[in-house]
Amino acid sequence: MPQARTPVSITTPIYYVNDRPHIGHAYTTTLCDVWARAQRLDGRDVFFLTGTDEHGAKVEKSARERGITPQALADENSEEFRKVMALFGLSNDDFIRTTEARHESQVKLFVQRLLVSGDIYLGEFEGWYDEGQEEYVTDTRAKELDYKSPISGKPLVRAKEHNYYFKLSAYASKLEAFFDAHPEFVRPLGRFNEVRGRLREGLQDVPVTRTNFSWGIGMPGAPEHVIYVWIDALFNYATALGLAEPSGAVARARGKYWPPEYHVIGKEILWFHAVVWPAMLMALEIPMPKCVYAHSFWISNGQKMSKSLGNFIDLPTIEAYFAKYGLDAWRWYMTTQGPIGTQDADFSPKHFHEIYTAQLVNTFANCASRTSSMIEKYFAGAMPDAETASMPISAAVGASTWSAFTEATAADVQKRYANFELAEAADAALSVIRAVDLLINETQPFKLAKDPANLPQVARILGVCAEGVRIAAVLLLPIMPTKCSEVLAAYGSPMESEMATGGVAEAARWGRLAAGTRISKCAPFMRVDAPAV
Ligand code: MSP
Repeated sequence: MPQARTPVSITTPIYYVNDRPHIGHAYTTTLCDVWARAQRLDGRDVFFLTGTDEHGAKVEKSARERGITPQALADENSEEFRKVMALFGLSNDDFIRTTEARHESQVKLFVQRLLVSGDIYLGEFEGWYDEGQEEYVTDTRAKELDYKSPISGKPLVRAKEHNYYFKLSAYASKLEAFFDAHPEFVRPLGRFNEVRGRLREGLQDVPVTRTNFSWGIGMPGAPEHVIYVWIDALFNYATALGLAEPSGAVARARGKYWPPEYHVIGKEILWFHAVVWPAMLMALEIPMPKCVYAHSFWISNGQKMSKSLGNFIDLPTIEAYFAKYGLDAWRWYMTTQGPIGTQDADFSPKHFHEIYTAQLVNTFANCASRTSSMIEKYFAGAMPDAETASMPISAAVGASTWSAFTEATAADVQKRYANFELAEAADAALSVIRAVDLLINETQPFKLAKDPANLPQVARILGVCAEGVRIAAVLLLPIMPTKCSEVLAAYGSPMESEMATGGVAEAARWGRLAAGTRISKCAPFMRVDAPAV
């Protein structure tokens, strides 16, 4: 039986509406989507959240330049992000916008609570400010950065403000203790160590309001102060679940999804997610998220992507990849070749093409295609009637029988998906295809089939191959939902909807492909021309 429908949730950052969607946004959201789909297929009750971050000085400025209101700009660009989610086949359960009333009213409630508890106070502050990031940096950090923004390279400026502050300094030792007790709180480990190291340097209180712009949520009781965009934005994770009103309808329906298993983010916004946000949650006595996963960056042909260099992998570029290779090939590349660890990953058309050809055309598609063709040719397109569970497997694979191998692999793949080891999950799933290829190469069923006396043996071999292809397609569904559904349909096998009730362990069980099942020819990925460069 599949496990109980444990509620779990995952979040992406909410994206700034003053930017156009690009590979970075697509990447984080796709990773979350793969995780969410894998958990749903495993019988879990999943809530996958994404959305847009719509307040702040930058949006106000862009809107002014275009001669429209900030709300009009936010509406337009938020819609663009929403469309992108659909285009990428992303299965998010909600899309939150920080200009929505449901968010604004709850942010005010949270801030009010922090005012009452004394965690937010009115004070004066002077410090080093990164204008592009709308962020203060500590004196030590400013010195380390040579007084320049690590993102834009522009000089940090000395700024002074009368503002409301959050007493981050009061949470320093609590945070240190929390980190020490939860070494998995920030992943990968390199990022954990980075934050843990910075915590030792001590913490300064952080401003939670601004007075230099007006496009934002007004501070309760002091509307000339606008809630700082980062504080406003972080709350989205809680407002989407209605947590500011614990007895309200939203919290009653969605409260079960807190705390999230993963806040998935890019490395540049780790501090806010791993330090500021947890401290605010401590102050509000809300349980901690289980893990902040900070991936690294896609770079383009060895260089940081930037508008001035014109090397951004933007939406039109991504759409050209969809047209040539298909959406699932794009998802495969994102999941298996992306900067999920502490290293940046280079996006190059040549590498994309090589991975597509080697792993999807020559491995996955070729195996599904030659197995189905041989079944068509030798068994009139019907799953052969043969005992396969006890069939010995090649010594190179390192398991006793095929059924033992695929059972262990399926369990390993599910564990890795759940643990956000997505590239490893993909590789383990593909190992079933590699084992099938090895069997075909070692036994050469196409040669054996020339002598009718060998047909029982050929039936056993192809029975194994078909079952292997089917199981691999089940395990790869979260990454390539369309192509794997196509393969499963060709192999007369259960679809995603059926699996959601039976769970992956059941769907991937050896021997579900009954003798006589119609197997039609399929070729999920076709060879395409190499890129010109
Ligand atoms: N609005 C804030 C986040 C608030 S979350 C409470 C923000 N928005 S953003 O539009 O700039 O999106 C940043 C996120 O986009 C990164 O954290 C990362 O998830 C993704 N990426 C942006 N550029 C990227 C790459 N070049 N490579 C990979 N992902 C990157 O920051």
